[in-house]
Amino acid sequence: MEITNIMEYEAIAKQKLPKMAFDYYASGAEDQWTLAENRNAFSRILFRPRILIDVSKIDMATTVLGFKISMPIMIAPTAMQKMAHPEGEYATARAASAAGTIMTLSSWATSSVEEVASTGPGIRFFQLYVYKDRNVVAQLVRRAERAGFKAIALTVDTPRLGRREADIKNRFTLPPFLTLKNFEGLDLGKMDKADDSGLASYVAGQIDRTLSWKDVEWLQTITKLPILVKGVLTAEDARLSIQSGAAGIIVSNHGARQLDYSPSTIMALEEVVKAAQGRVPVFLDGGVRRGTDVFKALALGASGIFIGRPVVFALASEGEAGVRKILQILREEFELAMALSGCRSLKEITRAHIVADWDLPR
Ligand code: FNR
Repeated sequence: MEITNIMEYEAIAKQKLPKMAFDYYASGAEDQWTLAENRNAFSRILFRPRILIDVSKIDMATTVLGFKISMPIMIAPTAMQKMAHPEGEYATARAASAAGTIMTLSSWATSSVEEVASTGPGIRFFQLYVYKDRNVVAQLVRRAERAGFKAIALTVDTPRLGRREADIKNRFTLPPFLTLKNFEGLDLGKMDKADDSGLASYVAGQIDRTLSWKDVEWLQTITKLPILVKGVLTAEDARLSIQSGAAGIIVSNHGARQLDYSPSTIMALEEVVKAAQGRVPVFLDGGVRRGTDVFKALALGASGIFIGRPVVFALASEGEAGVRKILQILREEFELAMALSGCRSLKEITRAHIVADWDLPR
């Protein structure tokens, strides 16, 4: 199957996957306004391309938290990848490694930190959900550290699960042949069926709703790994993240799966970048589907972006080969966007290379 852009895998995944799994991957919260907005907002940003610049050599390499990667395109944590493909997170880890970029493993992966590490070398981050039982958290962080993970992405937008109506209708639960592998030995690896979303019940039972800024500091007492605060959408919280010792910020609305009518991430990005004042790097996820989207995020000050759904849809369609393909396509599209706008390296991408509709007088 020949695909020419990374969005085409969604239709293939829809045909291949059981409805419960596809809906879980695809859905957003409630009206899914933010889900559409994450995409739509990119189309309100246009280029101010520069011409007659020698673009015969383009360098997309960059450094994230001191780790050199081949491009500013990374993989966001998405839970339960073995619902998409039997090789699940292994396939994603191998594809990321082959592309020379970073994979973030979800706390709720269907493969453990140790299993993912055993796939071979690669730069990997671990996404953390904070459970009520802090011993569970401390053990898990220690295991991630030992397995060679390089940073913790602390998800801060999920004290409760967003209302995803398809999951409620489908009575979503983890299929019985799978487990949340990181929690297997801790008796928290299974998800019961519930009258609504099994995952929402699991979160209500296990995840710590009291999580607050002091816990970002607590986390630093149990690990030396740098912490990325994932789920920041305002200048206020950008400043608090830095005060609390974050090594970086991920502007994210959780792929529009949590608070509906949150702004698109690309619109929230600039406010966060300004507040960060270059003290820590700012990353973005949400709705990135084109190389031009990557460019726009960098022009607004992001140090890199992460992709979520495209990975699970590619996995469902073609396993590791699919994930390799989307990384390759995004890379090529981004390289082309750089060339056609007259940028030869990431540092040449500036705010002056784009104009957003919010720049224009009303
Ligand atoms: C997610 N996301 C997510 N985030 C997180 O911190 N931990 C997790 O386990 C998950 N799981 C998850 C599953 C699925 C199916 C999706 C779609 C998303 C959010 C994810 O990391 C990221 O923020 C978004 O997916 C980015 O938006 P796009 O690229 O999907 O539009």
